[in-house]
Amino acid sequence: MQWEEGFRLGLGSMDGVHQHFMAIHQACVDAVGDEAFKAACTELRAHLVEHFDGEKLQMEQCGFPMIRIHMAEHIRVLNEFDHMMKAPKAMARAYINEGIPTWFRQHVATMDSATAACLRQAGMD
Ligand SMILES: [Fe+2]
Repeated sequence: MQWEEGFRLGLGSMDGVHQHFMAIHQACVDAVGDEAFKAACTELRAHLVEHFDGEKLQMEQCGFPMIRIHMAEHIRVLNEFDHMMKAPKAMARAYINEGIPTWFRQHVATMDSATAACLRQAGMD
C-alpha cells in the first residue's frame, strides 16, 4: 500500500501512527513463506491493538461524539482480522493484500478523519 495524499489528516500523532501501520502492513505483504507471513501478521495485529488504544485515548480527551461507533469499527476489524488469519492461506494473503488497504482507505476517510477534526478543534495534535 502506497501513501496517498488522502491519508494525511494533518495531525502529527495520527499521521505518524498511520505511516507506522503502513510499514508494518507492507512487511506482511512482502513476507516470503508461511512462517514469515504469520510472524509479520502477529506484529500487525499487535500494532493495531496499540494503534486503536491510542485513538481511543485521543477520542476520550477531545470528547469525540462518535467514540462508540469508531471503537466498534476497531473491534469489528480486529475480529475480521482474527477470522481471516484462520482462513486458508490464499484467503489470508488476499485479506492482507486487498482487504486491509480497502478498509484502511475507507476508515481514514471517515472515522479517523472525523476524529482528527475533533482533535484539531480541541487544539490537540
Ligand atoms: Fe481509527
